[in-house]
Amino acid sequence: MQIITFFAAKGGVGRTTAVRATASALLWAHKRVLILDLTSVPKGLTPLQEWQNLMAAQGFGQKQLSVQLVRDIEHLAFALRFAEREKVDYVLVDTPNRPTDLVLDTLRRTTIIVAPANGDTEAALVSEAMDRYQPVDVPAYGLITGVRSTDEERFVRSCFVGMPTLKYTLPRSDLFRRQSLRGDLFLTGSRDQNELTAESKARHLGEELMMICLRAHIKHHPPKGYTVNQPLATGHPLAHLRELHRRNPQIIATRSAE
Ligand SMILES: Nc1ncnc2c1ncn2[C@@H]1O[C@H](COP(=O)(O)OP(=O)(O)O)[C@@H](O)[C@H]1O
Ligand SMILES: [Mg+2]
Repeated sequence: MQIITFFAAKGGVGRTTAVRATASALLWAHKRVLILDLTSVPKGLTPLQEWQNLMAAQGFGQKQLSVQLVRDIEHLAFALRFAEREKVDYVLVDTPNRPTDLVLDTLRRTTIIVAPANGDTEAALVSEAMDRYQPVDVPAYGLITGVRSTDEERFVRSCFVGMPTLKYTLPRSDLFRRQSLRGDLFLTGSRDQNELTAESKARHLGEELMMICLRAHIKHHPPKGYTVNQPLATGHPLAHLRELHRRNPQIIATRSAE
C-alpha cells in the first residue's frame, strides 16, 4: 500500500485539486483509493466528501473510492490499518494549511510527500517547511500547479529547493472549473479541448506518482530526468528566493510584487 501526502505551507495552492486528479487517474488505472481528509470546514461536507458523493453517483462504490475525515493521530493509525485490511492500493492524504502534530505524524508514515505550489513564494515557503519537517527516509516532490510562461516555470522550479519537481497546470476555463467542481473529470460524454487536456494531464500526474511510489520502496532517489536544487541561502524562509533575485535581477517579478 502506497501513501501519498499532499502538503503545503499555505492555502490555495492546489492540494485538493491534485488529490482529486490523482484519485481520478488511479481509479482509471483500476486501483482502490482511500482519501484521508485532514482538512475541515465550519459546517457541512468538505469539498472531498462532496466529491465522493458525486463520484458515487457516477458509479464508483466505497470499495473503489472512499473518503474518511481524520481528526487525530489514533484515528489516523486506525484508518491506515483499515486500509491495509481492505487491500486499498493508494491512500491519498489532503492536509490543512498548518503543520499540526497530526500532519507531522502523517508525514512520517507516508511513502512520498507531494508539495504543490502555484508561484515562486509558495515554492520557497514549502521548501523551507520541508527543511524542518521532511522525515529523512521520505522523499518529497514539488508540484507546479500554476505558471503562465516557460520563464516563470523555470524560476518556480528553482524555488523548490531540494525537491525534484513535477508539473500539473490545468487549462483555465469556466467549463473545466465547473466540471472539476462536479467531480466528473474523465466521466462526461462530450468534452471540449480543455477537458481533454485536463484529463490527459491528470492521467500523466497519476502515472508519474505511481512510478515514483514504486521507486521510493527501492531507493530514495529521484527518477532520471528530475533536477534537485540546492539552497543559495538559508536562514529566513525566503532567503533562497531573495538570493535568486539578487543574482538574476532580470528574472520575472514575483506574484507578490505584481
Ligand atoms: N493544477 C492547477 N492548475 C490550475 N488551477 C488550479 C490547479 N490546482 C488548483 N487550481 C485552482 O486553485 C484554487 C485552489 O485550489 P485547491 O486545490 O482548493 O487548493 P488547496 O487545497 O491547496 O487550498 C482553485 O480555484 C483551483 O481551481
Ligand atoms: Mg484544500
